[in-house]
Parts: sequence; structure tokens; C-alpha cells
Amino acid sequence: MRLIFLGPPGAGKGTQANVLAETCKVPHISTGDILRGAVASSTDLGMKAKGYMDRGELVPDDLILNMVGNRLDEEDTRLGWILDGFPRNVSQAKFLDVLLEQISQQYDCVVNLDVSDEVIVSRLLDRGRDDDNESVIRTRLSVYREQTAPLINFYRDRQMLVSVDGNQPVEDVTACLSKVIIY
Ligand code: AP5
Repeated sequence: MRLIFLGPPGAGKGTQANVLAETCKVPHISTGDILRGAVASSTDLGMKAKGYMDRGELVPDDLILNMVGNRLDEEDTRLGWILDGFPRNVSQAKFLDVLLEQISQQYDCVVNLDVSDEVIVSRLLDRGRDDDNESVIRTRLSVYREQTAPLINFYRDRQMLVSVDGNQPVEDVTACLSKVIIY
């Protein structure tokens, strides 16, 4: 199982990736979680990333690409992985293509979780993470539209994309996923 989750902030990428990772016994690789860990430990990466994350902007590619390259080089990724929050723009997607070719791997599928803006804002305000206040959520949504949403066509053109309605309760989204993903 090698899967990429796409979708706006709060779409449920992390929630569904966790369930699938548990079921398929592969690592759930969330670039947001790795970055938050780096911020919490005040590493060089964390200190460089923090301002971008607080504002809801993308952390620059040079920091992210190195981080993902290192993570996909770890032993536990040999049999599969689920990527959540990466790639986030076309240049990250192209980097991933090159990286996977170098390590002789290929993703099986890209899942796009489709969720309306009003559901997103309400879910994230309820969660209340540091970057879950209304103005940062609006920035994250606009960054998503400008930089990440073009990946929908990028992967659709390659016939690798499946879309799932993420507006439903968690268990219903999981059930829909299990119908469109072969594992
Ligand atoms: P990241 O952590 O990736 O945040 P995000 O994309 O905004 O995603 P979220 O974690 O908010 O949402 P999610 O879709 O995972 O939903 P979740 O399952 O958590 O990135 C944070 C920041 O890091 C970025 O802004 C950027 O600065 C930086 N960054 C990360 N990756 C980067 C990259 N590749 N390049 C550059 N910068 C990068 O669910 C959200 C809430 O909704 C939860 O409370 C959950 O319980 C609830 N929920 C989930 N599903 C449902 C459901 N079906 N029904 C009801 N509630 C639900």
C-alpha cells in the first residue's frame, strides 16, 4: 500500500490516514506532524518552519523536500506508506516522482477528500490546534486553492486519482474509502 492523501485543511486526511495505516500496517507519514514535532523540539528545521506554520503558509520546499526524502529512506517504509500533507504543490509532486523512481517505488493511488469550506471551518474551530483560528484557517484554505488544488488535475491526468466525499461522518468516509482502494 502506497497512498497519497490530498484535500483541504480539516478534510480528514490525518484521521483517515491513521485508520488505513493501522489496517495496512504501514507508516502514516504526515508532514504537518513531523513539522510540529520539530517545532516542539526547537530543532533548526522547527525554528525555520514555525513562522510559516503560524501564518498558515507553506513551509519552503527546500526544507520539506529534504525532510520527506529522509523519511522515505527509513527502513519502515520499505513495504508501504501513506503520505498525508505531501505533496502540497506541483513542484513537490514532481520531486516525489523523481524520488520514487530513484528508490524504485510507485504510489498505488491518490485519494482526494472533498469537503466544503463551511464544514472545514467548523471542524477546525472545534479542534483548536495552534493554527486553527479563523484568520489562519482562511489563509490555509486560500493557500490550498492556489497551490495544492492544482494537484487534483495533476493526478487525474495520470489516472491515479479517486475522490471521496469527506463531508460524511468519519466511519462513513472510511467505508467509502474501503470501496475505492484495493488493499
Ligand atoms: P497539516 O498538519 O498538513 O495541516 P492541514 O493540511 O491544514 O491539515 P489538518 O491536519 O488541519 O487536517 P486533516 O485533513 O489532516 O484533517 P484531520 O484528520 O486532522 O499542515 C500544517 C502546516 O504545516 C501547514 O499549514 C504548513 O505550514 C505546514 N506544512 C505541512 N506539510 C507541508 C508541505 N508538504 N509543504 C509545505 N508546508 C507544509 O481532521 C481535522 C479535524 O476534523 C479533527 O478534529 C478531526 O477529528 C475532525 N474530523 C476529521 N474527519 C471528520 C469527519 N468525517 N467528520 C467530523 N469530523 C472529522
